[in-house]
Amino acid sequence: MKITVIGAGAVGATAADNITRRELAEEVILLDIKEGVAEGKAQDIAQTAALLGFDTKITGVTNDYEKTAGSSVAVITSGIPRKPGMTREELIGTNANIVKSVAKNLLSYSPDIIILVVSNPMDTMTYLTLKATGLPKNRVIGMGGALDSSRFKYQISQHTGASPADLNAIVIGGHGDTTMIPLIKHATWNSLPVSQFLSASQQEKVIADTMVGGATLTKLIGTSAWYAPGAAIAAMVESIVRNQQKLFTASVYLDGEYEQNDITLGVPIIIGKNGVEKILTLKLDEEDKAKFSQSAEAVRSMNNVLTESNII
Ligand code: NAI
Ligand code: 2OP
Repeated sequence: MKITVIGAGAVGATAADNITRRELAEEVILLDIKEGVAEGKAQDIAQTAALLGFDTKITGVTNDYEKTAGSSVAVITSGIPRKPGMTREELIGTNANIVKSVAKNLLSYSPDIIILVVSNPMDTMTYLTLKATGLPKNRVIGMGGALDSSRFKYQISQHTGASPADLNAIVIGGHGDTTMIPLIKHATWNSLPVSQFLSASQQEKVIADTMVGGATLTKLIGTSAWYAPGAAIAAMVESIVRNQQKLFTASVYLDGEYEQNDITLGVPIIIGKNGVEKILTLKLDEEDKAKFSQSAEAVRSMNNVLTESNII
């Protein structure tokens, strides 16, 4: 099995490192448009094999899609990252053209591919990938909810002292500071409702800090984060290639689910060898339903930029 990662920047290289050291495929291809960058990072990762003990082969290439031929899964991280003060939405113009050409190139060499979209604004880039490739909806998945849910668990653990691994908590909606919906009412600590261990103001803080989780790191680091994004990508890739049927929240095409049509948005799904195996229908209360529909409107207005700019 071959897995391709497009973009050898911070997120792409970290994802490729995780995928390689966890031996999720026989071969990993890391591709970037900048001469030598993917080759260098791939060699650096390969040179950890003796220390970490893995057999997966990793090759870096400069824009050579022939080398990606026959990939089962590809991860698209190419594009520019968010700079301090920049919204994900502002990234749309630049990243849409990059993501569109990358997705088409991938498909032309790997007709059976499942694509994970990471580039921001992720929900819109996922929608674009689906429309530009014409792939069936189970084979295009946007990564955002897995990361945001992990950040949500981190925030809950900061206030409860719980081990993050003991927490069950998900974030749905868009992958944006104002569009994501951390579902605190559904969160549990080994099946005990988290709300029983947090005051109302602590719950509000956990939600607010989760929603600005990405922006907080961007402010601190000067560019967006990569360790947790890379780990989230690898976890989703693992569920595909090992057919784990794990539950993630991810941006997928909604065709009537959650009262939405013709949009990709974060909802709970099962991920397995076919990509999206199932979309789970969660019973939301009126407050969360309203938040979900506001989130959909915000993402839809960004998707409209794609048609207005003749990108799709
Ligand atoms: P980065 O700047 O470190 O890496 C991006 C790489 O893409 C660069 O190496 C660049 O040369 C390459 N690239 C640009 N155009 C290309 C093309 N046409 N073909 C191949 N490679 C190309 O950026 P970073 O930090 O890795 O972030 C990547 C993207 O992921 C950004 O859009 C960022 O906002 C997004 N992101 C999304 C997250 C999510 O949860 N969905 C989390 C973190 C980042
Ligand atoms: C993040 O959430 C910016 O989407 C990126 O870290």
